[in-house]
Amino acid sequence: TTKVTVQPAVLGFDAVPKNLNDIVTVPAGYLVTVMTRLGDPIAAGVSAYANDGTDGNFAQRIGDHGDALYYYGLNAAGTRDDNSSTRGLLVQNHENLNVQYLHPNGPTNVSTGPRPEVEAIKEIEAHGVSVTEYRDTGGRTWTYVQDSALNRRITPNTPVTFHGPVRGSALIRTAYSQDGTQGRGTINNCANGHTPWGTNLTCEENWSGYFTRSGDDAARTPAEVTALRRYGVTRTLGNYAWSTVASTNSIFRRWDARATGATALADYRNEPNQFGWVVEIDPYNPGSTPRKRTALGRMGHEGAWLGKLTAGKKVAVYMGDDSRREYFYKFVSNAAWDAGDANTTDRLAMGDKYLDAGTLYVAKFNADGTGTWLPLVFGSVPNRPATGGQPEYVFANQADILVNTRLAADAVGATPMDRPEWTATNPVTGEIYLTLTNNNAAGRPLGGTDAANPRHYNDPKDGSNQVGNPNGHIVRLKETGDDPAATGFAWDIYLFGADSAEASAANVNLSGLDASNDFSSPDGLWFSRTQNPAGQGRPLLWVQTDDGALTDRTNNQMLAALPGTVGDGGAKTITNVGADGTTATQATIVGAAATTATLRRFLTGPKECEITGVDSTPDGRTLFVGIQHPGEDGEPDAPSSNWPQSQGGTTSGRPRSAVVAITRQDGGIIGL
Ligand code: FEO
Ligand code: CA
Ligand code: CA
Ligand code: CA
Repeated sequence: TTKVTVQPAVLGFDAVPKNLNDIVTVPAGYLVTVMTRLGDPIAAGVSAYANDGTDGNFAQRIGDHGDALYYYGLNAAGTRDDNSSTRGLLVQNHENLNVQYLHPNGPTNVSTGPRPEVEAIKEIEAHGVSVTEYRDTGGRTWTYVQDSALNRRITPNTPVTFHGPVRGSALIRTAYSQDGTQGRGTINNCANGHTPWGTNLTCEENWSGYFTRSGDDAARTPAEVTALRRYGVTRTLGNYAWSTVASTNSIFRRWDARATGATALADYRNEPNQFGWVVEIDPYNPGSTPRKRTALGRMGHEGAWLGKLTAGKKVAVYMGDDSRREYFYKFVSNAAWDAGDANTTDRLAMGDKYLDAGTLYVAKFNADGTGTWLPLVFGSVPNRPATGGQPEYVFANQADILVNTRLAADAVGATPMDRPEWTATNPVTGEIYLTLTNNNAAGRPLGGTDAANPRHYNDPKDGSNQVGNPNGHIVRLKETGDDPAATGFAWDIYLFGADSAEASAANVNLSGLDASNDFSSPDGLWFSRTQNPAGQGRPLLWVQTDDGALTDRTNNQMLAALPGTVGDGGAKTITNVGADGTTATQATIVGAAATTATLRRFLTGPKECEITGVDSTPDGRTLFVGIQHPGEDGEPDAPSSNWPQSQGGTTSGRPRSAVVAITRQDGGIIGL
């Protein structure tokens, strides 16, 4: 057995300098191994990835834009072992595409259509989720197993079932799903969650962009039009214009929500309602059917992270809805946590127990450092008032509230936030952290700040598209009585992003960042596993960036932090400055300032990437990190990054999103 010792609460590595190099940079003494990359084959007999646009069959290859990930341990027999640090299943989301690199000369008619069928099939299948076996072949030498029987791709075409209160609702019935219980696939999977019973929660974020509602609003009810507009299903052809493929196959037709038939059972007008959910996957059972958990609401789901579990108390799931001025949510189960349930072998049935029945809440942040969870329960949610030319919205039942969660949150007066991204749970204190990645001047105008979203300024280095809250911040909250089911909480702002070179400008560097730890646009967020000695007393928090306002000075990055607790700072008044020099003050509650002892840059990525997705082996000695969309602004014949080839010194070839395994030369625990 491994003896776990309490380590001193210090960060044990030298900060990585900001840089624009085309590699993953880690501290001295650390090693980077490139693991699964876009296109890598994950079934026997599938050819190696040519990486020249000629490859097909993405239903048996790693998808594009690898995002959130989680490591599920396996024992020598290939079954679940949560304590295994040498063999496991890496479950990763595949959010979107660098579409220019998927075809020999880029995509054909990507914004106007008609799209070639063969191109559209590749693009659809390169989305979804991958399950891939990883093995340590000795001394933390990691490789993936191409022919593992446990490998799996879940794509937008994979059959799924609906569970919870919306199952069977008329709102999700389509030509494919006549009784509203079936669906196909998942798309734009961003952040994630995991359960103690061994499943993965994958989250559908910017799904609305794939749809068009074409020109048929007169054929719809006013309520349907209001809902489509609120969720951003537009009249444009959608991100990749898949509905323009000249085929009657419903895998293409479904992306046009036009009401063409006599009823909703004859067309795909309700297809957008089949997306925007949290989806539970059993990674240990490749034949299992993923379940969409409708009790958790429908939105632009960033992630779904469980709160700290306590036997006999309810289970809470924290969820950001990532768009400007969207909200922060919590689901609370009806069932109380029974620790014996962690060992079930019928894992999706355990999901039924904890994730299908409960109460969905949305957060309201008060100016005094308190907050309220507002229940979204039919009968207590008022009608959404008429707004912006749209009529009053009258909820019909609880299924309506869960399908149109954003409308219900509007109606109860939740606090619009600066783009809620990931949440993380401090495993010791149970406090919840939430990244608010950024906002612009329209979303957070000078006169429109509040205590939890207190900043507006004109970024001094670039007046274009850098006004509002361009560097973002991280909020944290403590439930009243440390009860997951509490309806009240205390909160503060843990960190503000900033460019430390702009320290003299008003209200920019509010957390006192320096060159060793300045960052912008926090997104990924994760606490080290509790088995890791870092989890004893003061666990490590990892912050990943998806940055629009610091990429002039550095590629995106990941930092390690030793956070304190809610309320370790105090009240502060910020002087906000508008683009024309006018000012307005905003009172808020802030945490203690950062120092290089408590926040430090651990990693920088290659050119034009985002750092997103992080987990470790249970022993904390291998860290897995997702490198997403390197070279996203390049051309097929002129890539703007050559990563991951460049990690080995080769400066040619198309870039590929990939997972890296990070280890220490001395075999120690990462970050300490
Ligand atoms: Fe997919 Fe909000 O990041
Ligand atoms: Ca994200
Ligand atoms: Ca982001
Ligand atoms: Ca992304």
